[in-house]
Amino acid sequence: MLYDFSEFFMPGMIDTHIHAPQYAFIGTGMERPLLEWLAHTTFPTEDKFSNLEMARNVYSAIVRRTLRNGTTTACYFATIHTDASIVLADTASQYGQRAFIGKVCMDHNDSFEKYCETTEESISETKRYYKVLLQENYDRVKPIITPRFAISCSEKLLYELGKFADEQDLHIQSHISESPAEIKEVLRLFPGYKTYTEVYNNNKLLTNKTVMAHGCYLTDKELHVFRERGASISHCPNSNISLCSGHLDVRNALNHRVKVGLGTDIAGGYSISLLDAIRKAIETSKILFMEKKNHNVLSYKEAFRLATLGGSEALSIDHITGSFEVGKEFDALLINPEAKDSPFEVFSHLSKELLQRFLYLGDDRNIKAVYVAGRCVVPFLSNA
Ligand code: GUN
Ligand code: FE
Repeated sequence: MLYDFSEFFMPGMIDTHIHAPQYAFIGTGMERPLLEWLAHTTFPTEDKFSNLEMARNVYSAIVRRTLRNGTTTACYFATIHTDASIVLADTASQYGQRAFIGKVCMDHNDSFEKYCETTEESISETKRYYKVLLQENYDRVKPIITPRFAISCSEKLLYELGKFADEQDLHIQSHISESPAEIKEVLRLFPGYKTYTEVYNNNKLLTNKTVMAHGCYLTDKELHVFRERGASISHCPNSNISLCSGHLDVRNALNHRVKVGLGTDIAGGYSISLLDAIRKAIETSKILFMEKKNHNVLSYKEAFRLATLGGSEALSIDHITGSFEVGKEFDALLINPEAKDSPFEVFSHLSKELLQRFLYLGDDRNIKAVYVAGRCVVPFLSNA
């Protein structure tokens, strides 16, 4: 047998925050800031997922695209539609991707009134969704409780979702402190709470199975609460820049010993690839260095860790995946730096830098095979 000596294995990458339905408009619409973008582009598109044919098309496209780009685990938001969310769970399972999938909950939406549930609907549909996934008993696809963000949820809904997650010991995901306008609106809607973090924490939504996207404006005090609760942050640098939301100071979060993973936040972010998230995490860190001067920039090794082991810690699955350790499942990418049409050359004097050069220069053409729990899922399974 002939070996190609530039090939290597690396742990599969983990996308801790991605909106599957928003793949329908990826690469468009990012001129508006967050709240306007939601009202103008996002909600009208997500509303169309009551149509299961649309769900099947977009969801098989995103699962295939993420897998091909080396995302072995994805933590997805679906839409408010239970049946379409089940389509996403079926699709991820069929293609062999490890995934958390959330039926989105929202009982308040002034900006696009059509795309909204009643409080009772949101709670009962979440319970139905959970029951169906329990019955399906997928190997590696799990439900995750998903209040969209505080602006789109009543206090009662947040309370009931926190209670349900607590009773059933479920994972939880949402958004927090993404943009200044969002935070202002949250504090207006929840006058009884002192901080955005308190809104979630006082409703049992901050646990060691919680991942909150963004957190750009969390104060040190709020980071301390995250640390106490064991809750994590999904850092989504592409989205933060694309929607002009802000920057997360990852170094500060890590100094507070808060768990951090990376997210693409499709389609607030325009790239499906965690390689892009790695690069933008490093660039964001360098921008903060240039602004603050006292910033200790993220190395490529640290950013690589965020995309792999950090992601598994953020999702509390680091006992299962995230690194090559005896006892964990084999979630891996086979990288070929010399693939046909590779976007970079292999120079012998840089032969020890292949991982770094793949992270900065590579793309899916270099990902020769993808394994989840030891099973080869790319090239795609013949029955998928
Ligand atoms: N906050 C509430 N919903 C969303 C969403 O779909 N994307 C992003 N980036 N932020 C949100
Ligand atoms: Fe998001």
